[in-house]
Amino acid sequence: MGEGRRPHAMMFPFPCSGHINPTLKLAELLHSRGVHVTFVNTEHNHERLLRRRGGGGALRGRREGFRFESVPDGLRDDERHAPDSTVRLYLSLRRTCAAPLAELARRASPPVTCVVLSGLVSFALDVADELAVPSFVLWGTSACGFACTLRLRQLRQRGYTPLKDESYLTNGYLDTPIDWIAGVPTVRLGDISSFVRTLDPTSFALRVEEDEANSCARADGLILNTFDSLESDVLDALRAEFPRVYTIGPLAAAAAAATHIDRAPTTNGLSLWEEDAACVAWLDAHPAGSVLYVSFGSLTVMSPDALAELAWGLADSRRPFLWVIRPGLVAGAGDNHHALPEKFIEDTKDRCFIAEWCAQEQVLRHGAVGGFLTHSGWNSTAESIWAGVAMICWPGFADQYINSRYVRDEWGIGLRLDEELRREQVTAHVEELMGGGQRGEEMRRSAARWKAAAEAATAKGGSSYGSLDKLVEQLRRLE
Ligand code: UDX
Repeated sequence: MGEGRRPHAMMFPFPCSGHINPTLKLAELLHSRGVHVTFVNTEHNHERLLRRRGGGGALRGRREGFRFESVPDGLRDDERHAPDSTVRLYLSLRRTCAAPLAELARRASPPVTCVVLSGLVSFALDVADELAVPSFVLWGTSACGFACTLRLRQLRQRGYTPLKDESYLTNGYLDTPIDWIAGVPTVRLGDISSFVRTLDPTSFALRVEEDEANSCARADGLILNTFDSLESDVLDALRAEFPRVYTIGPLAAAAAAATHIDRAPTTNGLSLWEEDAACVAWLDAHPAGSVLYVSFGSLTVMSPDALAELAWGLADSRRPFLWVIRPGLVAGAGDNHHALPEKFIEDTKDRCFIAEWCAQEQVLRHGAVGGFLTHSGWNSTAESIWAGVAMICWPGFADQYINSRYVRDEWGIGLRLDEELRREQVTAHVEELMGGGQRGEEMRRSAARWKAAAEAATAKGGSSYGSLDKLVEQLRRLE
Protein backbone atom coordinates (compact mmCIF):
# COMPACT_ATOMS: atom_id res chain seq x y z
CA MET A 1 0.00 0.00 0.00
CA GLY A 2 1.33 3.45 -0.90
CA GLU A 3 2.67 5.84 1.72
CA GLY A 4 -0.10 7.76 3.50
CA ARG A 5 -2.92 5.53 2.20
CA ARG A 6 -5.12 3.71 4.61
CA PRO A 7 -7.28 0.63 4.22
CA HIS A 8 -10.89 1.32 3.35
CA ALA A 9 -13.46 -1.27 4.44
CA MET A 10 -16.88 -1.33 2.83
CA MET A 11 -19.09 -3.01 5.44
CA PHE A 12 -22.47 -4.56 4.70
CA PRO A 13 -24.49 -6.45 7.35
CA PHE A 14 -27.65 -8.45 6.83
CA PRO A 15 -30.30 -5.83 7.66
CA CYS A 16 -31.49 -6.86 11.14
CA SER A 17 -30.37 -5.75 14.62
CA GLY A 18 -28.59 -9.03 15.39
CA HIS A 19 -26.26 -8.36 12.43
CA ILE A 20 -26.19 -4.54 12.28
CA ASN A 21 -25.20 -4.11 15.96
CA PRO A 22 -22.05 -6.24 15.91
CA THR A 23 -21.04 -4.96 12.46
CA LEU A 24 -21.34 -1.37 13.70
CA LYS A 25 -19.15 -2.25 16.65
CA LEU A 26 -16.58 -3.83 14.38
CA ALA A 27 -16.74 -0.69 12.21
CA GLU A 28 -16.00 1.47 15.26
CA LEU A 29 -13.09 -0.74 16.20
CA LEU A 30 -11.57 -0.69 12.72
CA HIS A 31 -12.04 3.07 12.52
CA SER A 32 -10.38 3.55 15.90
CA ARG A 33 -7.34 1.73 14.46
CA GLY A 34 -7.12 3.99 11.42
CA VAL A 35 -9.24 2.08 8.90
CA HIS A 36 -11.50 4.16 6.65
CA VAL A 37 -15.08 2.82 6.88
CA THR A 38 -18.06 2.99 4.55
CA PHE A 39 -20.98 1.38 6.35
CA VAL A 40 -23.81 0.36 4.03
CA ASN A 41 -27.36 -0.07 5.29
CA THR A 42 -30.45 -0.79 3.28
CA GLU A 43 -32.39 2.37 2.42
CA HIS A 44 -35.27 1.14 4.55
CA ASN A 45 -33.08 0.79 7.65
CA HIS A 46 -31.19 3.99 6.88
CA GLU A 47 -34.50 5.87 7.07
CA ARG A 48 -35.42 4.05 10.29
CA LEU A 49 -32.10 4.94 11.89
CA LEU A 50 -32.46 8.58 10.82
CA ARG A 51 -35.76 8.78 12.72
CA ARG A 52 -34.13 7.61 15.98
CA ARG A 53 -33.00 10.04 18.65
CA GLY A 54 -29.41 10.89 17.72
CA GLY A 55 -29.72 8.94 14.46
CA GLY A 56 -29.44 12.01 12.21
CA GLY A 57 -26.23 13.14 13.94
CA ALA A 58 -24.63 9.71 13.76
CA LEU A 59 -25.59 9.06 10.11
CA ARG A 60 -25.20 12.53 8.61
CA GLY A 61 -22.57 14.00 10.92
CA ARG A 62 -19.19 14.59 9.34
CA ARG A 63 -16.73 12.21 10.78
CA GLU A 64 -13.36 11.84 9.20
CA GLY A 65 -12.96 8.41 7.67
CA PHE A 66 -16.42 7.08 8.62
CA ARG A 67 -19.45 7.43 6.45
CA PHE A 68 -22.82 5.83 5.88
CA GLU A 69 -24.30 4.86 2.53
CA SER A 70 -27.43 2.94 1.60
CA VAL A 71 -28.67 0.61 -1.12
CA PRO A 72 -32.23 -0.49 -1.93
CA ASP A 73 -33.33 -3.86 -0.52
CA GLY A 74 -35.91 -4.43 -3.27
CA LEU A 75 -38.70 -5.39 -0.84
CA ARG A 76 -42.25 -4.07 -1.27
CA ASP A 77 -43.79 -2.50 1.86
CA ASP A 78 -46.45 -5.21 2.18
CA GLU A 79 -43.71 -7.87 2.16
CA ARG A 80 -42.06 -6.38 5.25
CA HIS A 81 -44.93 -7.59 7.41
CA ALA A 82 -45.41 -10.99 5.78
CA PRO A 83 -44.81 -14.03 8.05
CA ASP A 84 -41.90 -15.05 5.81
CA SER A 85 -40.47 -11.53 5.59
CA THR A 86 -36.92 -12.65 6.52
CA VAL A 87 -36.86 -15.20 3.68
CA ARG A 88 -38.20 -12.59 1.26
CA LEU A 89 -35.59 -10.12 2.42
CA TYR A 90 -32.81 -12.69 2.03
CA LEU A 91 -33.84 -13.47 -1.56
CA SER A 92 -34.48 -9.88 -2.46
CA LEU A 93 -31.06 -8.75 -1.21
CA ARG A 94 -29.40 -11.36 -3.42
CA ARG A 95 -31.31 -10.08 -6.45
CA THR A 96 -31.01 -6.39 -5.74
CA CYS A 97 -27.90 -5.36 -3.84
CA ALA A 98 -24.82 -6.65 -5.67
CA ALA A 99 -24.83 -4.04 -8.45
CA PRO A 100 -25.44 -0.98 -6.22
CA LEU A 101 -22.81 -2.20 -3.74
CA ALA A 102 -20.24 -2.60 -6.51
CA GLU A 103 -21.17 0.81 -7.87
CA LEU A 104 -20.75 2.42 -4.42
CA ALA A 105 -17.35 0.83 -4.08
CA ARG A 106 -16.25 2.01 -7.54
CA ARG A 107 -17.21 5.61 -6.75
CA ALA A 108 -15.57 5.56 -3.29
CA SER A 109 -12.62 7.72 -2.46
CA PRO A 110 -10.20 6.64 -1.15
CA PRO A 111 -10.70 3.39 -3.07
CA VAL A 112 -12.32 0.48 -1.24
CA THR A 113 -9.61 -2.02 -0.28
CA CYS A 114 -11.76 -4.75 1.29
CA VAL A 115 -15.37 -5.85 1.80
CA VAL A 116 -16.57 -6.89 5.27
CA LEU A 117 -19.91 -8.66 5.39
CA SER A 118 -21.99 -10.38 8.04
CA GLY A 119 -23.47 -13.85 7.67
CA LEU A 120 -26.45 -14.35 5.30
CA VAL A 121 -25.19 -11.90 2.66
CA SER A 122 -22.62 -14.17 1.01
CA PHE A 123 -23.45 -12.66 -2.39
CA ALA A 124 -21.24 -9.76 -1.23
CA LEU A 125 -18.28 -12.16 -1.60
CA ASP A 126 -18.96 -12.00 -5.35
CA VAL A 127 -18.93 -8.22 -5.14
CA ALA A 128 -15.47 -8.38 -3.52
CA ASP A 129 -14.31 -10.77 -6.26
CA GLU A 130 -15.63 -8.44 -8.94
CA LEU A 131 -13.79 -5.51 -7.34
CA ALA A 132 -10.71 -7.72 -6.91
CA VAL A 133 -10.41 -6.86 -3.22
CA PRO A 134 -10.24 -9.25 -0.24
CA SER A 135 -13.31 -10.13 1.81
CA PHE A 136 -13.90 -10.83 5.50
CA VAL A 137 -16.99 -12.36 7.08
CA LEU A 138 -18.13 -11.34 10.53
CA TRP A 139 -20.13 -14.47 11.41
CA GLY A 140 -22.33 -13.19 14.21
CA THR A 141 -22.70 -16.31 16.34
CA SER A 142 -20.46 -17.98 18.88
CA ALA A 143 -17.66 -20.18 17.59
CA CYS A 144 -19.64 -23.25 18.72
CA GLY A 145 -22.68 -21.90 16.84
CA PHE A 146 -20.58 -21.50 13.72
CA ALA A 147 -19.00 -24.97 14.03
CA CYS A 148 -22.44 -26.55 14.38
CA THR A 149 -23.90 -24.59 11.47
CA LEU A 150 -20.98 -25.67 9.29
CA ARG A 151 -21.88 -29.31 10.01
CA LEU A 152 -25.55 -29.03 8.98
CA ARG A 153 -24.46 -30.30 5.57
CA GLN A 154 -22.97 -33.51 7.05
CA LEU A 155 -26.03 -33.96 9.26
CA ARG A 156 -28.20 -33.81 6.19
CA GLN A 157 -25.91 -36.08 4.15
CA ARG A 158 -25.75 -38.65 6.98
CA GLY A 159 -29.54 -38.67 7.23
CA TYR A 160 -29.94 -37.08 10.69
CA THR A 161 -32.11 -34.38 9.17
CA PRO A 162 -34.72 -33.76 7.78
CA LEU A 163 -36.76 -35.69 10.35
CA LYS A 164 -38.80 -38.64 9.05
CA ASP A 165 -42.09 -37.48 10.50
CA GLU A 166 -43.70 -35.32 13.19
CA SER A 167 -43.19 -37.97 15.91
CA TYR A 168 -39.40 -37.43 15.72
CA LEU A 169 -39.90 -34.03 17.33
CA THR A 170 -41.12 -35.61 20.55
CA ASN A 171 -40.00 -39.28 20.62
CA GLY A 172 -36.53 -38.63 22.01
CA TYR A 173 -34.84 -38.65 18.59
CA LEU A 174 -33.61 -35.08 19.14
CA ASP A 175 -31.64 -36.41 22.15
CA THR A 176 -29.43 -38.47 19.79
CA PRO A 177 -25.84 -37.75 20.85
CA ILE A 178 -23.59 -36.10 18.27
CA ASP A 179 -19.93 -36.53 19.15
CA TRP A 180 -18.09 -35.89 15.89
CA ILE A 181 -18.08 -32.10 15.58
CA ALA A 182 -14.43 -31.16 16.08
CA GLY A 183 -13.88 -29.10 19.21
CA VAL A 184 -17.51 -29.43 20.34
CA PRO A 185 -18.35 -31.78 23.25
CA THR A 186 -21.00 -34.45 22.76
CA VAL A 187 -24.26 -32.58 22.25
CA ARG A 188 -27.88 -33.50 21.57
CA LEU A 189 -28.90 -33.41 17.92
CA GLY A 190 -31.67 -31.00 18.91
CA ASP A 191 -29.15 -28.58 20.40
CA ILE A 192 -27.13 -28.20 17.22
CA SER A 193 -29.51 -25.80 15.51
CA SER A 194 -33.24 -25.24 15.11
CA PHE A 195 -32.79 -26.07 11.44
CA VAL A 196 -32.30 -29.80 12.09
CA ARG A 197 -35.92 -29.92 13.26
CA THR A 198 -37.33 -29.64 9.77
CA LEU A 199 -39.50 -32.33 8.16
CA ASP A 200 -39.05 -30.80 4.73
CA PRO A 201 -36.45 -32.53 2.51
CA THR A 202 -36.13 -29.32 0.51
CA SER A 203 -36.00 -27.04 3.57
CA PHE A 204 -34.94 -23.63 2.33
CA ALA A 205 -33.77 -22.43 5.75
CA LEU A 206 -31.55 -25.50 6.27
CA ARG A 207 -29.89 -25.10 2.86
CA VAL A 208 -29.41 -21.36 3.35
CA GLU A 209 -27.75 -21.82 6.74
CA GLU A 210 -25.38 -24.53 5.56
CA ASP A 211 -24.54 -22.68 2.33
CA GLU A 212 -23.96 -19.38 4.08
CA ALA A 213 -21.72 -20.93 6.75
CA ASN A 214 -19.72 -22.95 4.23
CA SER A 215 -19.31 -19.93 1.97
CA CYS A 216 -17.10 -18.39 4.68
CA ALA A 217 -14.33 -20.63 3.31
CA ARG A 218 -14.24 -18.31 0.28
CA ALA A 219 -13.39 -15.25 2.39
CA ASP A 220 -9.88 -14.10 3.26
CA GLY A 221 -10.72 -14.09 6.95
CA LEU A 222 -13.38 -15.13 9.44
CA ILE A 223 -14.17 -12.72 12.27
CA LEU A 224 -15.93 -14.03 15.38
CA ASN A 225 -17.54 -12.15 18.26
CA THR A 226 -15.99 -14.34 20.93
CA PHE A 227 -12.76 -14.61 22.88
CA ASP A 228 -10.17 -17.36 23.00
CA SER A 229 -10.50 -18.57 26.58
CA LEU A 230 -14.29 -18.84 26.29
CA GLU A 231 -14.27 -21.32 23.39
CA SER A 232 -10.69 -22.57 23.14
CA ASP A 233 -11.41 -26.14 21.95
CA VAL A 234 -13.76 -25.24 19.16
CA LEU A 235 -11.56 -22.33 18.11
CA ASP A 236 -8.55 -24.67 17.83
CA ALA A 237 -10.64 -26.89 15.57
CA LEU A 238 -11.85 -23.97 13.44
CA ARG A 239 -8.30 -22.64 13.11
CA ALA A 240 -7.27 -26.00 11.67
CA GLU A 241 -9.89 -25.52 8.95
CA PHE A 242 -9.82 -21.76 8.33
CA PRO A 243 -6.43 -20.14 7.84
CA ARG A 244 -7.40 -16.78 9.36
CA VAL A 245 -9.79 -16.64 12.30
CA TYR A 246 -9.99 -13.36 14.21
CA THR A 247 -11.61 -13.59 17.65
CA ILE A 248 -12.21 -10.03 18.71
CA GLY A 249 -15.12 -10.26 21.16
CA PRO A 250 -17.06 -9.61 23.14
CA LEU A 251 -17.50 -6.83 20.58
CA ALA A 252 -19.55 -4.77 23.00
CA ALA A 253 -16.62 -4.75 25.44
CA ALA A 254 -14.02 -4.10 22.76
CA ALA A 255 -16.03 -1.25 21.19
CA ALA A 256 -16.70 0.35 24.56
CA ALA A 257 -12.97 0.33 25.30
CA ALA A 258 -12.15 1.78 21.87
CA THR A 259 -14.67 4.63 21.99
CA HIS A 260 -12.97 5.93 25.13
CA ILE A 261 -9.85 6.37 23.05
CA ASP A 262 -11.51 7.85 19.95
CA ARG A 263 -13.48 10.83 21.26
CA ALA A 264 -15.38 11.56 18.05
CA PRO A 265 -19.19 11.14 18.08
CA THR A 266 -19.84 7.46 17.56
CA THR A 267 -22.55 5.11 16.47
CA ASN A 268 -22.83 3.78 20.03
CA GLY A 269 -26.48 3.26 20.83
CA LEU A 270 -27.60 3.64 17.19
CA SER A 271 -30.61 1.36 17.07
CA LEU A 272 -33.47 0.42 14.75
CA TRP A 273 -35.88 0.82 17.68
CA GLU A 274 -36.33 3.82 19.97
CA GLU A 275 -34.85 3.00 23.36
CA ASP A 276 -36.96 3.69 26.43
CA ALA A 277 -34.68 5.76 28.67
CA ALA A 278 -37.11 5.63 31.62
CA CYS A 279 -36.22 2.02 32.37
CA VAL A 280 -32.74 3.06 33.52
CA ALA A 281 -34.24 5.52 36.02
CA TRP A 282 -36.53 2.69 37.16
CA LEU A 283 -33.50 0.43 37.66
CA ASP A 284 -31.75 3.18 39.63
CA ALA A 285 -34.44 2.85 42.28
CA HIS A 286 -33.73 -0.86 42.87
CA PRO A 287 -31.14 -2.55 45.09
CA ALA A 288 -28.08 -4.26 43.61
CA GLY A 289 -28.76 -7.58 41.89
CA SER A 290 -32.50 -7.52 42.59
CA VAL A 291 -34.01 -7.12 39.09
CA LEU A 292 -34.55 -9.81 36.45
CA TYR A 293 -34.15 -8.46 32.91
CA VAL A 294 -36.32 -10.26 30.34
CA SER A 295 -35.81 -9.85 26.59
CA PHE A 296 -35.87 -11.97 23.44
CA GLY A 297 -33.92 -9.91 20.91
CA SER A 298 -35.14 -8.58 17.62
CA LEU A 299 -36.64 -11.61 15.85
CA THR A 300 -38.34 -13.98 18.33
CA VAL A 301 -42.10 -14.36 17.92
CA MET A 302 -44.04 -16.08 20.72
CA SER A 303 -47.62 -17.25 21.02
CA PRO A 304 -50.09 -15.43 23.29
CA ASP A 305 -50.27 -18.61 25.41
CA ALA A 306 -46.51 -18.69 25.95
CA LEU A 307 -46.59 -14.99 26.79
CA ALA A 308 -49.26 -15.59 29.42
CA GLU A 309 -47.35 -18.51 31.00
CA LEU A 310 -44.22 -16.38 31.14
CA ALA A 311 -46.13 -13.41 32.58
CA TRP A 312 -47.68 -15.43 35.40
CA GLY A 313 -44.40 -17.21 36.09
CA LEU A 314 -42.68 -13.84 36.49
CA ALA A 315 -45.53 -12.47 38.58
CA ASP A 316 -45.39 -15.49 40.92
CA SER A 317 -41.64 -15.03 41.46
CA ARG A 318 -42.50 -11.84 43.42
CA ARG A 319 -39.25 -10.31 42.17
CA PRO A 320 -38.93 -7.01 40.24
CA PHE A 321 -38.48 -7.45 36.49
CA LEU A 322 -37.81 -5.28 33.47
CA TRP A 323 -39.44 -6.84 30.43
CA VAL A 324 -38.86 -5.83 26.82
CA ILE A 325 -41.93 -6.55 24.71
CA ARG A 326 -41.09 -5.18 21.28
CA PRO A 327 -43.77 -4.65 18.64
CA GLY A 328 -44.10 -7.95 16.79
CA LEU A 329 -42.97 -10.17 19.71
CA VAL A 330 -46.42 -11.65 20.24
CA ALA A 331 -47.96 -13.43 17.25
CA GLY A 332 -51.19 -11.84 16.11
CA ALA A 333 -51.17 -9.16 18.82
CA GLY A 334 -51.14 -6.33 16.24
CA ASP A 335 -50.96 -2.82 17.70
CA ASN A 336 -51.96 -4.10 21.11
CA HIS A 337 -48.55 -5.69 21.30
CA HIS A 338 -48.49 -6.03 25.09
CA ALA A 339 -51.46 -8.39 24.95
CA LEU A 340 -51.06 -8.96 28.69
CA PRO A 341 -53.97 -9.78 30.98
CA GLU A 342 -55.21 -6.74 32.94
CA LYS A 343 -55.01 -8.66 36.19
CA PHE A 344 -51.31 -9.28 35.57
CA ILE A 345 -50.69 -5.57 34.95
CA GLU A 346 -52.58 -4.69 38.12
CA ASP A 347 -50.86 -7.37 40.26
CA THR A 348 -47.31 -6.48 39.18
CA LYS A 349 -47.53 -2.72 38.75
CA ASP A 350 -45.24 -2.03 41.72
CA ARG A 351 -42.49 -4.38 40.53
CA CYS A 352 -42.63 -4.58 36.74
CA PHE A 353 -41.44 -2.19 34.04
CA ILE A 354 -42.43 -2.97 30.46
CA ALA A 355 -40.42 -1.34 27.66
CA GLU A 356 -40.72 -1.71 23.89
CA TRP A 357 -36.93 -1.57 23.55
CA CYS A 358 -34.08 -0.55 25.81
CA ALA A 359 -30.37 0.18 25.78
CA GLN A 360 -29.62 -3.45 26.54
CA GLU A 361 -25.88 -3.19 27.16
CA GLN A 362 -26.50 -0.39 29.65
CA VAL A 363 -29.30 -2.34 31.30
CA LEU A 364 -27.23 -5.52 31.64
CA ARG A 365 -24.37 -3.55 33.16
CA HIS A 366 -26.64 -1.75 35.60
CA GLY A 367 -25.92 -2.85 39.17
CA ALA A 368 -29.61 -3.50 39.89
CA VAL A 369 -29.79 -6.30 37.29
CA GLY A 370 -29.15 -9.71 38.85
CA GLY A 371 -30.32 -12.07 36.10
CA PHE A 372 -31.29 -12.21 32.42
CA LEU A 373 -34.11 -14.31 30.98
CA THR A 374 -33.04 -14.50 27.34
CA HIS A 375 -33.69 -16.25 24.03
CA SER A 376 -29.91 -16.93 23.89
CA GLY A 377 -29.22 -14.96 20.71
CA TRP A 378 -25.47 -14.64 20.53
CA ASN A 379 -25.25 -10.86 20.91
CA SER A 380 -27.39 -10.98 24.04
CA THR A 381 -25.37 -13.89 25.43
CA ALA A 382 -22.03 -12.19 24.78
CA GLU A 383 -23.30 -8.92 26.28
CA SER A 384 -24.47 -10.80 29.37
CA ILE A 385 -21.11 -12.55 29.71
CA TRP A 386 -19.36 -9.18 29.51
CA ALA A 387 -21.75 -7.80 32.16
CA GLY A 388 -21.24 -10.83 34.42
CA VAL A 389 -24.98 -11.57 34.55
CA ALA A 390 -26.16 -15.19 34.81
CA MET A 391 -29.01 -16.29 32.53
CA ILE A 392 -32.23 -18.26 32.22
CA CYS A 393 -32.31 -19.47 28.63
CA TRP A 394 -35.37 -19.99 26.48
CA PRO A 395 -33.91 -20.76 23.04
CA GLY A 396 -36.14 -21.10 20.00
CA PHE A 397 -34.32 -20.50 16.76
CA ALA A 398 -31.06 -21.06 14.86
CA ASP A 399 -27.93 -21.07 17.09
CA GLN A 400 -29.85 -20.27 20.28
CA TYR A 401 -30.01 -23.94 21.37
CA ILE A 402 -26.26 -24.49 21.23
CA ASN A 403 -25.61 -21.16 22.94
CA SER A 404 -27.86 -22.14 25.83
CA ARG A 405 -26.23 -25.58 25.99
CA TYR A 406 -22.86 -23.90 26.52
CA VAL A 407 -24.27 -21.29 28.91
CA ARG A 408 -25.66 -24.00 31.17
CA ASP A 409 -23.21 -26.90 30.84
CA GLU A 410 -19.87 -25.53 29.65
CA TRP A 411 -19.74 -22.10 31.28
CA GLY A 412 -21.96 -22.78 34.31
CA ILE A 413 -23.75 -19.47 34.08
CA GLY A 414 -27.35 -20.36 33.46
CA LEU A 415 -30.44 -22.52 33.53
CA ARG A 416 -32.67 -23.59 30.69
CA LEU A 417 -36.44 -23.56 30.37
CA ASP A 418 -38.35 -26.30 28.56
CA GLU A 419 -39.52 -25.45 25.09
CA GLU A 420 -43.12 -25.29 26.22
CA LEU A 421 -43.18 -22.55 28.82
CA ARG A 422 -44.84 -23.42 32.12
CA ARG A 423 -45.35 -20.77 34.76
CA GLU A 424 -44.21 -23.05 37.62
CA GLN A 425 -40.88 -23.70 35.92
CA VAL A 426 -40.39 -20.00 35.17
CA THR A 427 -40.97 -19.14 38.82
CA ALA A 428 -38.70 -21.96 40.06
CA HIS A 429 -35.87 -20.97 37.71
CA VAL A 430 -36.11 -17.30 38.71
CA GLU A 431 -35.87 -18.36 42.34
CA GLU A 432 -32.93 -20.65 41.64
CA LEU A 433 -31.06 -17.97 39.70
CA MET A 434 -31.77 -14.97 41.88
CA GLY A 435 -32.33 -16.51 45.31
CA GLY A 436 -29.73 -17.28 47.96
CA GLY A 437 -29.37 -21.00 47.15
CA GLN A 438 -26.09 -22.73 46.37
CA ARG A 439 -26.66 -23.14 42.63
CA GLY A 440 -27.47 -19.44 42.23
CA GLU A 441 -24.30 -18.53 44.14
CA GLU A 442 -22.22 -20.83 41.93
CA MET A 443 -23.65 -19.35 38.75
CA ARG A 444 -23.00 -15.82 39.97
CA ARG A 445 -19.40 -16.73 40.83
CA SER A 446 -18.88 -18.29 37.39
CA ALA A 447 -20.45 -15.25 35.73
CA ALA A 448 -18.04 -12.97 37.62
CA ARG A 449 -15.11 -15.10 36.42
CA TRP A 450 -16.21 -14.95 32.78
CA LYS A 451 -16.78 -11.21 33.06
CA ALA A 452 -13.18 -10.79 34.24
CA ALA A 453 -11.99 -13.04 31.40
CA ALA A 454 -13.95 -10.98 28.83
CA GLU A 455 -12.48 -7.76 30.17
CA ALA A 456 -8.97 -9.20 30.12
CA ALA A 457 -9.41 -10.41 26.53
CA THR A 458 -10.49 -6.98 25.24
CA ALA A 459 -8.00 -4.92 27.27
CA LYS A 460 -4.65 -3.90 25.77
CA GLY A 461 -2.50 -7.03 25.63
CA GLY A 462 -5.53 -9.35 25.73
CA SER A 463 -6.30 -12.02 23.10
CA SER A 464 -9.15 -10.11 21.42
CA TYR A 465 -7.16 -6.89 21.41
CA GLY A 466 -4.25 -8.71 19.77
CA SER A 467 -6.54 -10.42 17.26
CA LEU A 468 -7.93 -7.05 16.19
CA ASP A 469 -4.35 -5.82 15.72
CA LYS A 470 -3.72 -8.80 13.45
CA LEU A 471 -6.89 -8.14 11.48
CA VAL A 472 -5.93 -4.50 10.91
CA GLU A 473 -2.40 -5.54 9.91
CA GLN A 474 -3.92 -7.96 7.43
CA LEU A 475 -6.17 -5.24 5.99
CA ARG A 476 -3.12 -3.05 5.49
CA ARG A 477 -1.15 -5.85 3.87
CA LEU A 478 -3.78 -7.26 1.57
CA GLU A 479 -4.44 -4.29 -0.63
C1 UDX B 1 -30.23 -12.96 15.55
C2 UDX B 1 -30.55 -14.43 15.88
O1 UDX B 1 -31.89 -14.58 16.29
C3 UDX B 1 -29.61 -14.96 16.92
O2 UDX B 1 -29.89 -16.33 17.19
C4 UDX B 1 -28.18 -14.85 16.43
O3 UDX B 1 -27.30 -15.35 17.43
C5 UDX B 1 -27.88 -13.41 16.08
O4 UDX B 1 -28.85 -12.91 15.15
P1 UDX B 1 -31.48 -11.57 17.63
O5 UDX B 1 -32.54 -12.58 17.74
O6 UDX B 1 -31.87 -10.19 17.41
O7 UDX B 1 -30.32 -12.01 16.58
O8 UDX B 1 -30.70 -11.66 19.05
P2 UDX B 1 -29.32 -11.16 19.58
O9 UDX B 1 -28.20 -11.80 18.89
O10 UDX B 1 -29.36 -11.35 21.03
O11 UDX B 1 -29.28 -9.61 19.23
C6 UDX B 1 -30.16 -8.67 19.77
C7 UDX B 1 -29.47 -7.33 19.86
O12 UDX B 1 -30.46 -6.34 20.12
C8 UDX B 1 -28.46 -7.27 21.01
O13 UDX B 1 -27.29 -6.60 20.59
C9 UDX B 1 -29.17 -6.46 22.07
O14 UDX B 1 -28.32 -5.64 22.87
C10 UDX B 1 -30.09 -5.59 21.24
N1 UDX B 1 -31.27 -5.21 22.03
C11 UDX B 1 -32.23 -6.13 22.30
C12 UDX B 1 -31.38 -3.92 22.46
O15 UDX B 1 -30.49 -3.08 22.23
N2 UDX B 1 -32.48 -3.58 23.17
C13 UDX B 1 -33.47 -4.44 23.46
O16 UDX B 1 -34.44 -4.01 24.11
C14 UDX B 1 -33.35 -5.77 23.02
